Amino acid sequence: MAKKDILLLAGDGIGPEIMEEAKKIISWFNKNKKLEIEISEELAGGISYDENGTPLTDQVLYKAMDSDAVLLGAVGGPKWDNLEFSKKPERALLRLRKEMRLFANLRPAICFSELVSASSLKAEIISDLDILIVRELTGGIYFGEPRGIEPIENGERKGVNTHTYTTKEIKRVAKVAFDLALKRNKKVTSADKSNVMEAGQLWKEEVQALYDENKAYKEIELSHMLADNCAMQLVRNPKQFDVIVTDNLFGDMLSDEAAMLTGSLGMLPSASLSEKDKNGRIRSMYEPCHGSAPDIAGKGIANPIAMILSFAMALKYSLNFDKESELLESAIKLVLKDGLRTADIMEDGKKNVSTSDMGDAIVAKLELQK
Ligand code: IPM
Ligand code: MG
Repeated sequence: MAKKDILLLAGDGIGPEIMEEAKKIISWFNKNKKLEIEISEELAGGISYDENGTPLTDQVLYKAMDSDAVLLGAVGGPKWDNLEFSKKPERALLRLRKEMRLFANLRPAICFSELVSASSLKAEIISDLDILIVRELTGGIYFGEPRGIEPIENGERKGVNTHTYTTKEIKRVAKVAFDLALKRNKKVTSADKSNVMEAGQLWKEEVQALYDENKAYKEIELSHMLADNCAMQLVRNPKQFDVIVTDNLFGDMLSDEAAMLTGSLGMLPSASLSEKDKNGRIRSMYEPCHGSAPDIAGKGIANPIAMILSFAMALKYSLNFDKESELLESAIKLVLKDGLRTADIMEDGKKNVSTSDMGDAIVAKLELQK
């Protein structure tokens, strides 16, 4: 089996704690399933700023580009809130996404049956929920130019950001959504604000055009939904959705919302993928959708499941270990079935465990299924 290089960027806040648990899982697979995953660890985010004066050094960026996959914990925290924009921890993440050209961000919101009552929504609304948000990740208002804060008259200032999308940017992410829908329930909802933004109108037209041009997509049911309505429908009747494709900013918001349908933001993994290069190789980064949670950092109570599920996505999308990925997912289900819960998903009658207990329990279930 070919050797695979994975770069770990634990980052800030709870990042290092949840990454520790992912490392336990990686070493279990290396030892027991003969996967030759070689890991290396580098700094990114606030911790890199403290050490190197920048949230991401060029050297770490190049290493990320060369690796078979990047696993990222989380970046940011109040300590770095007042830094100038280019030094903020979040720039590490955004630079990695942009420079690695990770335009397709897959955020699956799956409600494990064991957690239906952990959600703030009624059980019947979310039981068996399985939706996938495909978020565009390298365009839109996150990266558009011009941007900045500039002085205007009367001592006032003006903040500027630009929302742009091109045909190519829209169609390549829509293609990812359609291709994934073909392997799922064959329903795509494209969310935009075509009623107020030209870039939104273009989004809608290009998604429709790609659909109309491809016979293979005929079996898919495509609908367009205004993003505000989509936010409402997600809590009203989330099971109407299969794949939601949307832009960078709406995808950010809709995926946080979708996370809560699964019981906790601590359960939602993500994969960010590039196009294939000439050699058929893709670049990729895997990270939980949640942030660095500075309020609970260092307490050993964070939920490592989104991080571990992100590694399961890496096994599937970057390393071609589908069976191993399923094995890991089923180990997580078994642990939840046993009633083990970190604080964020804790309920009466369940066993409250620490971050590292949760990681150990998942490893124990892998052992059982060996
Ligand atoms: C996410 C996060 C990031 C984003 C932040 C940390 C820059 O919220 O991955 O959803 O806005 O994309
Ligand atoms: Mg977000």
